[in-house]
Amino acid sequence: MGHLNIIGAGRLGRTLGRLWQEGGTFQIQSVYNRSPASALAAIEFIGAGQVARSIASMPKANYWLIACTDSEIANVAQQLAQTGLVDDQAIVFHCSGALSSEVLTPLKPASVASAHPVHSFAKPEYSLGTFAGSSVTLEGDNPAVERLANIFTAIDGETLAIDPESKSLYHAGSVIASNYLTTLMDLSLQSFAAAGIERDNALRLLTPIVMQTVENNMALGPEKSLTGPIARGDLETVEAQVESLTAVDDQLAVCYRHLGLACVKLARRGPLSKESAAKLIELLSEPTR
Ligand SMILES: NC(=O)c1ccc[n+]([C@@H]2O[C@H](COP(=O)([O-])OP(=O)(O)OC[C@H]3O[C@@H](n4cnc5c(N)ncnc54)[C@H](OP(=O)(O)O)[C@@H]3O)[C@@H](O)[C@H]2O)c1
Repeated sequence: MGHLNIIGAGRLGRTLGRLWQEGGTFQIQSVYNRSPASALAAIEFIGAGQVARSIASMPKANYWLIACTDSEIANVAQQLAQTGLVDDQAIVFHCSGALSSEVLTPLKPASVASAHPVHSFAKPEYSLGTFAGSSVTLEGDNPAVERLANIFTAIDGETLAIDPESKSLYHAGSVIASNYLTTLMDLSLQSFAAAGIERDNALRLLTPIVMQTVENNMALGPEKSLTGPIARGDLETVEAQVESLTAVDDQLAVCYRHLGLACVKLARRGPLSKESAAKLIELLSEPTR
């Protein structure tokens, strides 16, 4: 069994740490977070490990996970390199979708890689039960990539290679599907609230349609899943909705109009006529007053 040190055991780090610890893949050895209290909470969640007071005080390990926020990874890699704790047999990896393994260059000759789980770790307790089946994209030095493929497969991740040059666009795709979907839910709840429908009722009302829409998209693709006024070319309904939303909140109306334009483009790949599309584009492009 390998020994893993974690620098930055937040939502992702503590979830993966616990899955590996419970699965017998790794012995979680040492955890360093910005605050010792947070590191203590992480080791309690993982069920193993010791709190480190600094990076320099961590014991040597054959695997190092740097799972702090993206903007801190380069800084942490530099600090860790300066300790001399990482030798040429070690594997060091981060889990950012946006950054490549290049950011870990100061740690060479250790073998370095990035391993991005396409998973939303909003609540570690949930992710323990839902991580299996998530994809994990890998790139970096061969020894690290090969070992990480086994390590993520051990907790039922589906690993695949990613070109480091494509990571920004690939990550934008994940962000749109996950984070923007969440923001759309919030915008939808704001609209329901303005209609006098309480949040709990709105969530109950939305559950079947949101789940159905996700299922439709996965099974049929977006072109065949689009329903509603834009797909039907129902100009009057769209106009009324732009007006109603503008009266409530400018940002709601702006989002409705901008996404509506993308929706028209999608609907044109289906049965929406060129004429209806042109009228909808004119309506949705109008600046709100
Ligand atoms: N969350 C996701 O859904 C998700 C999905 C895929 C990939 N990722 C990637 O996973 C990584 C971690 O994301 P996350 O959502 O788990 O972040 P998070 O919940 O915000 O946790 C970040 C952790 O890093 C620690 N930290 C921050 N700066 C540090 C530093 N300079 N030195 C040591 N520890 C530091 C924080 O310590 P304190 O607790 O003491 O502040 C915190 O425990 C990122 O690279 C992210 O891109 C996240």
